[in-house]
Amino acid sequence: MQQRISPASALTGAITLPGDKSISHRYAMISAIADGESRIHNYSTGADCHSTLSCVRALGIDVEVAGAEVVIRGKGLDGLRAPSGDLDAGNSGSTIRMLSGILAAQPFLTRIFGDESLSRRPMQRIMRPLAEMGAEIGAREDKFPPLEIHGTRLRPIDYTLPVPSAQVKTCVLLAGLFAEGQTSVSEPVASRDHTEIALREFGADLKIAQRKITLSGRPHLTGRELMVPADLSSAAFFIVAALLVPGSQLTIRGVGLNPTRSALLDFLTGMGAKILIPTLECWNGELIGDIIVQHSELKGGTVEGALTAALIDEIPVLAILGAATEEGLIVKDAGELRVKETDRIRTVVENLRRLGVEAEERADGMVIPGRQKFRAGQFDSFGDHRIAMAFAVAALLADGPSVIENAEAASVSFPEFWSTLARIAG
Ligand code: S3P
Repeated sequence: MQQRISPASALTGAITLPGDKSISHRYAMISAIADGESRIHNYSTGADCHSTLSCVRALGIDVEVAGAEVVIRGKGLDGLRAPSGDLDAGNSGSTIRMLSGILAAQPFLTRIFGDESLSRRPMQRIMRPLAEMGAEIGAREDKFPPLEIHGTRLRPIDYTLPVPSAQVKTCVLLAGLFAEGQTSVSEPVASRDHTEIALREFGADLKIAQRKITLSGRPHLTGRELMVPADLSSAAFFIVAALLVPGSQLTIRGVGLNPTRSALLDFLTGMGAKILIPTLECWNGELIGDIIVQHSELKGGTVEGALTAALIDEIPVLAILGAATEEGLIVKDAGELRVKETDRIRTVVENLRRLGVEAEERADGMVIPGRQKFRAGQFDSFGDHRIAMAFAVAALLADGPSVIENAEAASVSFPEFWSTLARIAG
């Protein structure tokens, strides 16, 4: 699908967004291995989270979906059954990596595959700890999907993450639920902690001290009523758009503001962004609040070290913001961007150049000088949802109408993106 976008004069009004992708995946997986019914409100409408639901269903769990309301009737830690065919994770790295932790503990063999992009993404990061726990996992070229997971009775481990990755942390913790004894995961750099929060919510026993999480195996998990906040990583596109388009004032309702996810807001306010959060609430252990954002003059900045890990999904849209700031944006320590849905260093720089924006590609980052103008043009999502949405924001600032090729990619996390954008940008 091609999407045409005209420059915007101001973004105004109030919007609601789909439920958080990271939290939705976790609630679905944990609900399936908890005892009894879980009701999940505002479950992500994105295709990725629906890949997780299909996998859970194929493992013998009853799942009812009515829009963003999902009911999952969990069967406890020992209630999954062997699927009759291969599991399809679609485009979703979270589905394949996190669910593998559960599959590794089953008394049956599972094959799980994904689309072309997922079939190129590295899986050793989960294969290694799961092998240490006793599972046997085969993969294409020993590292890529499809995975063939020979489940077994797992041993607990004490694991230090070699890459900062919440997906890997989650995989090991989910596997640890099935192992007798204490499984620990230490992370050198803090990553999103939705799994820890959700596991406690479902009744698991976790101790967390100095970035080491210790989980007691074989807990009794019970189904719950859960509310998923709106996805801050989806809100990021609208936050950046409202900051950059003169005259904008936008309210985004009920957004997840977990401190391990909200570095974006601190980074932006640090460079002069006018962002207000009038009230904060806590639902199922997750912080949530409205965000009010106003057009602002921005200084620019550097993303590096732990901040890069905290902002990893927002870097494509920050690259666009960077070009419009006073001093530009430097991104360092971002090698992980090369193994996302696309190589996001390459796809961002390629599209920026198509916009007439100067950008330097580095091995693990990029440099984008500030005070640049955007030229209307033709961009490509390259099949990556965050690239499609980031360059939609750029197109709002261009000097004429632009076209985005393969715009349907946005539905991986945000199927309503184009209609929401049309509503607030006229
Ligand atoms: C996610 C973790 C991040 C992120 C992805 C979602 C999660 O991936 O990029 O979109 O829900 O745990 P990594 O774990 O590979 O850093």
